[in-house]
Amino acid sequence: MNMTARHTADATTVEEGLAIQEERAKFDSQAATDLAMQNTLLTPRFYTTDFDALDAIDVSPVREDWDHLMERMRSDPNRGHFKKNEDWDQIDWEGMEPELKAEFLDFLISSCTAEFSGCVLYKEMKRRGTNADIKELFSYMSRDEARHAGFINDALREAGVAVNLGFLTREKKYTYFRPKFIFYATYLSEKIGYARYITIYRHLEANPDKRFHPIFKWFKEWCNDEFSHGEAFALLMRTDPKITGSFVNKLWIRFFLTAVYSTMWVRDHARPKFHEALGVDIDWYDQEVYRKTSTIACQAFPMELDIDHPRWLPNLKRMERAVNAMDAAKARGGVAGLAGRVGAGARAALAFVALYTIPVKPNRVPENVRMEPAY
Ligand SMILES: [Fe+2]
Ligand SMILES: [Fe+2]
Repeated sequence: MNMTARHTADATTVEEGLAIQEERAKFDSQAATDLAMQNTLLTPRFYTTDFDALDAIDVSPVREDWDHLMERMRSDPNRGHFKKNEDWDQIDWEGMEPELKAEFLDFLISSCTAEFSGCVLYKEMKRRGTNADIKELFSYMSRDEARHAGFINDALREAGVAVNLGFLTREKKYTYFRPKFIFYATYLSEKIGYARYITIYRHLEANPDKRFHPIFKWFKEWCNDEFSHGEAFALLMRTDPKITGSFVNKLWIRFFLTAVYSTMWVRDHARPKFHEALGVDIDWYDQEVYRKTSTIACQAFPMELDIDHPRWLPNLKRMERAVNAMDAAKARGGVAGLAGRVGAGARAALAFVALYTIPVKPNRVPENVRMEPAY
């Protein structure tokens, strides 16, 4: 196969997409890969799980919705979409304000890592699976994520950096999550991904002068892929009522919602120049993304976080300050640095507890789980 003539956007399988990436990786930058290799609380991680348990899932209880979703994914509406075309404007990376450039690169690298993290997990399930339904779903999802990651890497290459995805697959540490945790975390990250991409897309549709990079023009089709992936996890969770219904699991869902939302807050607030360039107020943006995600997640989760509670925003801000103080203490090093980290860590933990204990709004999940992207 002549790799140079092929593009990840046209790849119909994850294996093909990754082979194309591997070929291009010869030119990819060490610095971007190093950043993607970091495993901190806030950077996207790679996951592994009990693939046999996942493979054993019987989708019969949701067969009708399942077949409908598979039919759409099989038809592959976004094949060929994720590559540069005449809508791709040339960017003057050299002339970009250095702080904005640094934050935007950080945004692209962490998005690429997150996309690729999904790709690797889904591909592994596809490879190990024996259950035809599960294998089919994971082949489509890994195909999509390989394209998404490949496309971000195309944008990064123009700036002279790109993430070596083959190297990441081999070298990055994998965190083990039980299947139900994979469901909560992945369902949420797919739906939050949809909400993030569509909110930026709609904002830039109304304010095209703020679109400082062409990649945002691709966000609409992009977010529809993420929406479908989220639908798949909503259906998988529906196959067993215990996953979202038992007392303990409800506590876990609350935990994941709080953790994912507060991580997003801290991460976004670390990129002030990037959001300023987009003309987006970060507090508004994050609340808007939570609101959309919470509304969507009512299809699957038995509760909603109360993001209008008086304790919500103040504790997100406390968490943000504590995490920043932890980073500063880490940079300082020595005994004072260590003491600073312990103190800031305790403050972050307290802020998390304050967020976690905000009374939730109970939700009765609807009979019909299926949703269409509505924003
Ligand atoms: Fe994706
Ligand atoms: Fe996805």
